[in-house]
Amino acid sequence: MYIRTFSSTMQIIVGSLLLFMAVVTKADDSSIMCTESYCNKYPGQADPACPTLPSLCNKTKSDSGIFLPSPTPCNCCDFCIAYLNEGDTCSTGEKTSDSPTEICGPGLYCDQTTEKCRKMTGTLCLNAQAKYDADKAVGKVGDYQVRPSCDGDGYYVPYQCIPGGICYCVDKDGNRIFGSIENNGRAEFDLPCTCSRNFNEMGNIVGRKLRPGEYFRCAQNGAYEPLQCIYDTTCLCVDTMDGAPTYKNAIPVEIYALSNDTLPCFNKTVNMEGKFFRRCEELHMNRTKEIEDKKEDYDKVLAYELPDCTPDGNYAPVQQNITHKYCMTPQGIPLTEYILEKIPSNAKLLSNMNCKCAMALRIMSSEEKPSCLKNGNYNPKQCRRGACYTVDEDGNQIIS
Ligand SMILES: *[C@@H]1O[C@H](CO)[C@@H](O)[C@H](O)[C@H]1NC(C)=O
Ligand SMILES: *[C@@H]1O[C@H](CO)[C@@H](O)[C@H](O)[C@H]1NC(C)=O
Ligand SMILES: *[C@@H]1O[C@H](CO)[C@@H](O)[C@H](O)[C@H]1NC(C)=O
Ligand SMILES: *[C@@H]1O[C@H](CO)[C@@H](O)[C@H](O)[C@H]1NC(C)=O
Ligand SMILES: *[C@@H]1O[C@H](CO)[C@@H](O)[C@H](O)[C@H]1NC(C)=O
Repeated sequence: MYIRTFSSTMQIIVGSLLLFMAVVTKADDSSIMCTESYCNKYPGQADPACPTLPSLCNKTKSDSGIFLPSPTPCNCCDFCIAYLNEGDTCSTGEKTSDSPTEICGPGLYCDQTTEKCRKMTGTLCLNAQAKYDADKAVGKVGDYQVRPSCDGDGYYVPYQCIPGGICYCVDKDGNRIFGSIENNGRAEFDLPCTCSRNFNEMGNIVGRKLRPGEYFRCAQNGAYEPLQCIYDTTCLCVDTMDGAPTYKNAIPVEIYALSNDTLPCFNKTVNMEGKFFRRCEELHMNRTKEIEDKKEDYDKVLAYELPDCTPDGNYAPVQQNITHKYCMTPQGIPLTEYILEKIPSNAKLLSNMNCKCAMALRIMSSEEKPSCLKNGNYNPKQCRRGACYTVDEDGNQIIS
């Protein structure tokens, strides 16, 4: 399984190319004239040329509409499309020359026959919402259960939060992916998950987890790291939210030349001069190379363990060697409380070991901590403020 076939090599090239092309097209379609300083000189609403916002739009209420850069030169004005409520009259999008000013709100669609906004159904998120609402109506919802949040298209929003616990990134279908923070009530802003969602989707396209050096690196909060190196060599600064290059005319820098003098996004506290890859990534790359060099010698290849790295280039929580399976800090230090010997009596704990509870403990600062098992998983039975309840593998309350 360590032998890279021709077709998987092609897939990597296609995958990287997609990433790279996404970056290049993003860079090309915005005009260089429209800098931030231009807009600051002609600030949005003060500019008499800016249209007034629809009365339904209220900037202090995020559920009143979508706020967008206006479709005017340089996007300096504010622009808003107001959300209509369920039952409001809507237009089914006849081709008019004007851009729309109102659309049916999140989770609603415009029904063609009645021309009214109606509830969407059918996606996993919307179904989960409907189930939650039905359970709630009959009093079957737990104190720490949260109503799933869906986006305007009916998919899961990128973050999922556990009351008094952590928030973590999820894909469109609500499956947990890389990225987590302590639940500070600001996940909407502090946990963007844009990079980790793209990383995950790219993996689905390529058909396997991407290897270090094949992708743009994500930060712990699922956003893009500001400094990126692609194709093992070329480095540039990118926007943390969408991964597009921030300095469009800047000349990419080689890894060996990385420093405060060569790239403006170089940050001494997180980046090292002349170096990009972190320990886990470097070890993974070195071992992959050693395996390729020795692949005729089958016995030697079997002795190599590839470390499991996360999209931020650090160590994945679950690691193992020939004798043990254990939880590890992102920096690669085994957590002594969660080391299991590979012996038959540990079989059950070993088979589903995920270290998710052990990792949550590391990022939580609050007094009330979840209870973890010997394999670092959440204890399915949690007790908080005198009441006990059941949780799933991510620590969410479930009603069994
Ligand atoms: C906008 O919403 C805030 C908070 O709900 C409210 O206090 C304010 O009056 C609203 N403004 C307008 C113009 O409706
Ligand atoms: C980084 O570079 C800038 C300009 O080249 C310089 O002003 C600044 O002092 C440097 N910072 C550090 C920490 O070296
Ligand atoms: C550098 O990184 C640290 C740690 O992430 C951060 O706190 C700091 O604000 C960054 N500095 C700059 C200039 O971006
Ligand atoms: C990877 O290999 C390089 C070059 O041989 C070496 O300098 C580096 O220390 C190795 N890194 C790790 C983590 O083993
Ligand atoms: C495997 O890892 C455990 C925990 O870090 C360590 O105690 C043990 O010595 C390791 N075994 C081998 C064969 O490296």
